[in-house]
Amino acid sequence: MIEADLAVVDAAELLTVRGPGPKRGGDLADAGIVPRGCVAVRDGRIVFVGDEREYRRQVRLSRRGIEIDATGRTVLPGFVDAHTHLPFAGSREEEFAARLRGATYEEILAGGGGILSTVASTRAASLERLIEIGRPRLDRMLLHGTTTAEAKSGYGLTLDDELKQLRAVHALNALHPIDLVPTFLGAHVVPLEMRSRRADYVRDIVERMLPSVASQGLARFCDVFVEDGAFTAAEGETILSRAAALGLGLRVHADQRGPSGGSLLAARLGAASADHLEHVTEEGIRALAAAGTCAVLLPGAAFFLGDRHDAPARRMIDAGVPVALATDFNPGTCPTEAMTAILPIACLRYGLQPAEAIAAATLNAACALGLGAQVGSLEVGKVADVQVLEVPNHLHLAYHFGVNHCRTVVKEGRIVVDDGRLESAPDAALRRSDLDTPGSGS
Ligand code: NIG
Ligand code: FE
Repeated sequence: MIEADLAVVDAAELLTVRGPGPKRGGDLADAGIVPRGCVAVRDGRIVFVGDEREYRRQVRLSRRGIEIDATGRTVLPGFVDAHTHLPFAGSREEEFAARLRGATYEEILAGGGGILSTVASTRAASLERLIEIGRPRLDRMLLHGTTTAEAKSGYGLTLDDELKQLRAVHALNALHPIDLVPTFLGAHVVPLEMRSRRADYVRDIVERMLPSVASQGLARFCDVFVEDGAFTAAEGETILSRAAALGLGLRVHADQRGPSGGSLLAARLGAASADHLEHVTEEGIRALAAAGTCAVLLPGAAFFLGDRHDAPARRMIDAGVPVALATDFNPGTCPTEAMTAILPIACLRYGLQPAEAIAAATLNAACALGLGAQVGSLEVGKVADVQVLEVPNHLHLAYHFGVNHCRTVVKEGRIVVDDGRLESAPDAALRRSDLDTPGSGS
């Protein structure tokens, strides 16, 4: 008999998303569905996955063991959100309203707003404040089924402010059930005070920021925003080459607003991911496929920017590019923490089938973060990150949109969301809303 201390039993559908990952091409649609599915856990790891009959025959629950009845419900691996800008202060709803009146994202940024306004509020916020406002954001992620998330700096743009953002990520990782993967994005935009000295800013990243971040172990990845108005592919190459030499993995904000050459750069440097890709070229797609670089698609950002130019997701899948999905959670282009907000857009705008979207948001996203062997699927030996949804099948995630179906979340074998509520409620002072008024943040 297999001993277990927790089990989720008798799901109408249990999506294992079993490997090998990342899933490419036609495999992406194979979510490994087990009808009347059960998953059993011991010491935070999955020890059994199978149907109800096999479960009853093979698994014995320990005396204090917990059995979660998932009858009529759908069970998935916890979502892995492979691209977020979590540790920022302030919000930009006024900019949102201005865009609705016709201003463009680029005009707002060129005028010193946009990313630069979040830079001002993030610089003004203390480390403690960034931790305080990060926590309810992570709570919202967890309540919507996310159990692992990447988190980028990039709103500090000075050595001290970038380190502050990354320290906030480390502190949040320690105090919250969600596992965070920190990424250094000092090359998000050139800060206002360096506009006439951009070569000096690039040099500062390469000579001061990256060595400091790497020597303190504050980031696992380095990212560059390669775009008109941000950094050129050549500047990106300088920065990312140094990051790789310092032992960091690489990611690129690529081809978001136009064909920036970001995907070609990501492929050439063997980056873990190229993200966005609304304007990726056929050459870029071929390069990503050949390099095995993961395409992290962010349909929420394209949707929120009113961008009619959808990333050619089907062409990428057909070409064999590993495709993942993420929120891009940030105050300018996608202010939602919920992966469940992203799946319907991925299906309706990018043409993914719901099963493909789920695999892209779990196993493939884990692979994009280098965590494909640990999380992202329900398989024996993996970390027990599991969510139970109050829907009879997985199609409802994209079909019955705009509401949170997630009832139970198990993180590393521990129930952290029970009946739609956080299990260990953080203290009241840290639970108040973090929707800062614009410009505030300290
Ligand atoms: O991923 N593209 C660049 N960075 C973010 C937007 C950041 C912002 O507008 O604050 C993105 O969309
Ligand atoms: Fe982003």
